[in-house]
Amino acid sequence: MLLALLCLLAGAAAAAPNARPCAPSHPASAYPFCDASLSVPARARALFSLLTLDEKIAQLSNTAGGVPRLGIPPYQWWSESLHGLADNGPGVNFSSGPVRAATAFPQVVLSTAAFNRSLWRAVAEAVATEALGMHNAGQAGLTYWAPNINIFRDPRWGRGQETSGEDPAVAAAYSLEYVKGFQGEEGEEGRIRLSACCKHYTAYDMEKWEGFTRYTFNAKVKTVTPYRFSRLIIFTVNAQDLEDTYQPPFKTCIQEARASCLMCAYNQVNGVPMCAHKDLLQKTRDEWGFQGYITSDCDAVAIIHENQTYTKSDEDSVAIVLKAGMDLNCGSFLVRHTKSAIEKGKIQEQDIDRALFNLFSVQLRLGIFDKPKNDQLGPNNVCTKEHRELAAEAVRQGAVLLKNDNSFLPLKRNEVKHVAIIGPSADDAYAMGGDYTGVPCNPITFHQGIQPYVAQTTFAAGCKDVSCNSTYLFGEAIEAAKVADTVIVVAGLNLTEEREDLDRVSLLLPGNQMGLIHTIASVTKKPLVLVLLGGGPVDVSFAKRDPRIASILWLGYPGEVGGQVLPEILFGEYNPGGKLAMTWYPESFTAIPMTDMNMRADPSRGYPGRTYRFYIGDVVYGFGYGLSYSKYSYSILSAPKKISVSHTSVPNIISRKPAYTRKDGLDFVKTEDIASCEALMFSVCIAVSNHGEMDGSHAVLLFSRLKSSVPGFPIKQLVGFERVRTAAGSATNVEVTVDPCKHMSAANSEGKRILLLGAHVLTVGDEEFELLIET
Ligand SMILES: *[C@@H]1O[C@H](CO)[C@@H](O)[C@H](O)[C@H]1NC(C)=O
Ligand SMILES: *[C@@H]1O[C@H](CO)[C@@H](O)[C@H](O)[C@H]1NC(C)=O
Ligand SMILES: *[C@@H]1O[C@H](CO)[C@@H](O)[C@H](O)[C@H]1NC(C)=O
Ligand SMILES: *[C@@H]1O[C@H](CO)[C@@H](O)[C@H](O)[C@H]1NC(C)=O
Ligand SMILES: *[C@@H]1O[C@H](CO)[C@@H](O)[C@H](O)[C@H]1NC(C)=O
Repeated sequence: MLLALLCLLAGAAAAAPNARPCAPSHPASAYPFCDASLSVPARARALFSLLTLDEKIAQLSNTAGGVPRLGIPPYQWWSESLHGLADNGPGVNFSSGPVRAATAFPQVVLSTAAFNRSLWRAVAEAVATEALGMHNAGQAGLTYWAPNINIFRDPRWGRGQETSGEDPAVAAAYSLEYVKGFQGEEGEEGRIRLSACCKHYTAYDMEKWEGFTRYTFNAKVKTVTPYRFSRLIIFTVNAQDLEDTYQPPFKTCIQEARASCLMCAYNQVNGVPMCAHKDLLQKTRDEWGFQGYITSDCDAVAIIHENQTYTKSDEDSVAIVLKAGMDLNCGSFLVRHTKSAIEKGKIQEQDIDRALFNLFSVQLRLGIFDKPKNDQLGPNNVCTKEHRELAAEAVRQGAVLLKNDNSFLPLKRNEVKHVAIIGPSADDAYAMGGDYTGVPCNPITFHQGIQPYVAQTTFAAGCKDVSCNSTYLFGEAIEAAKVADTVIVVAGLNLTEEREDLDRVSLLLPGNQMGLIHTIASVTKKPLVLVLLGGGPVDVSFAKRDPRIASILWLGYPGEVGGQVLPEILFGEYNPGGKLAMTWYPESFTAIPMTDMNMRADPSRGYPGRTYRFYIGDVVYGFGYGLSYSKYSYSILSAPKKISVSHTSVPNIISRKPAYTRKDGLDFVKTEDIASCEALMFSVCIAVSNHGEMDGSHAVLLFSRLKSSVPGFPIKQLVGFERVRTAAGSATNVEVTVDPCKHMSAANSEGKRILLLGAHVLTVGDEEFELLIET
């Protein structure tokens, strides 16, 4: 009986691949869309030409309908994989099959702080392996809506944690590794194993602020009067910021990484809803060579009429998005309203065919109708030891040591007998995941992780939860701190404070957390160690100043292995070397409207600008900041003294009339006029010396600035980075490659990228050198 059942099950499983219409034995395989000798575009056209209007319309939703008469199965386009498989979308299901969990890698803003491209690539590959394993078990799709490559523009943004920080070059570099690692090597006819999605296009970086929401926010000049601000001007996303802040990650994600999906955001940019923004959507295809599908964010089409009142009717919304180039609607809006849009003459059937061409092309490239690629992967490839170790490695490399008075850390194991670990998240596995966490394989809390290291541990929450609205648990925490020889306080944020749909209003620690830290610091025998969780920066100036707080370690959202890695770092098994990928602003920054989209400072209206490239105010910790247990120094072994945009080995490097002299005497070249940007690339060889007693791997960041500052140009910008391993007491040479067109340029007020001629200064640590750019 049992055997017979097993046999039946096995039979059913074996039959599954045959359900694919183009499998040789399938009756549908004779249709031209199954003819593998035809090109993908020809097959895509052959497919939609067989469909009735109703069948076509059913394809326009993330929950796409099947076409049984052609053997086309229903398909769920929406799966999530930001930092591991997550069930925020219906495509991933942890309760419907053998896979019950997946590796929860650290939240992206933490992995970013590692500044290690091969780490980013390896994590994306591991997530892809788990996605395929889960897909082959029937529990996940092949199309994923990650990475989130918006710029972390405002420190209050609840989804800043999902991004790779505030620097466009870093976000671009991250997107390249993520997409290439996830989609895999592109095969013939653009075959890919999985589809990644560059989201959310574009200038989306706010959930809710003073009555504004991401659903209706329109970055366009207008004056309104919210209650805390006497008069508030909402500025347009100007051409300059668009070119050198908001767009670079998307350009790289499409043009270089060759992502097969782009998601348009809810918000409007300069008066046009992004899913209806024909210019910006077409640009991705015409200028960046995008070949893939464009999906809306979820319900982003429904709101165009109902909430944004941008169109007069739902049918107009259908027409405007399809004609703008959007292909898929997350939600059911297009399924409900496309037929009547046709009937009312707002669109033609060809407008639907255009979208179907893109959708079917991606499905064909993924082999959804043919033999699946990587069908040998399965549940055994999920939650593996290797992936867990890689997740731990990402936490180790990303961890940022912010303070370490008198080398208080690392702790010496033989001197520590009794550790008190205090804080609402110190024993909570669910505070460690961050947005878009699925079901972790085997999460370990900080308290659990520390136990094997010391004879005795005492845990006290101190606050009921991260919001910490009351002090009634302080007493217990004080008692715990008094009896221990070493005290670790885990403070910071959680999804109750920052997440999708929730921005913070303050940059300070939530509720009474600061009071808790002060109270504990006043009773401990030795200074304490403060561990901070969270994606967004916190103003911890008080802790920075307080000598009773010896060390501060930022761990972002470390995912399921956070509890394993924290003691490794505290006890010196790993020498931290991550650097912050975003500015930590003081609380006073919250006086600035989140809706002010300008990146550049404007002192005339008291506006300090945003991110390290433009912000002129004080910081708590700056972009690129991070200590180590070793002291490192740098020396520049080789670097060019000048580069010439006209006298290079490439003839006619300037294709059009070159340098133009502005009134204020500045010479520049438009990068679009430079025939070969590659010919301008140069490398800098840097010797990195480790003066400490521990081997270490850390992030080396190379910045550039203009010798004399020019208004509107970045104060400095990152032009290259490498993670470098250096043995104690020795030196390692590292080569950093710089692409001046891309990284030393900035946009002018018309949104044209220009390279300023004259003296630039490149800096690494305390070392700097001058580079002349001339014609
Ligand atoms: C997952 O699958 C189970 C079993 O098929 C189903 O009951 C459940 O609704 C699914 N969950 C989601 C989020 O789709
Ligand atoms: C970068 O990350 C990879 C993958 O974890 C690792 O093998 C490599 O050692 C890291 N590089 C440095 C310099 O730490
Ligand atoms: C859009 O408007 C409808 C009707 O007023 C409302 O129910 C819905 O919550 C709004 N949606 C958003 C995202 O604001
Ligand atoms: C952190 O947030 C998660 C998700 O909202 C919640 O389940 C958990 O209880 C929170 N933890 C604390 C300590 O507040
Ligand atoms: C804590 O207090 C804040 C501000 O009064 C309030 O918004 C929040 O809901 C409270 N949180 C909890 C968990 O009680």
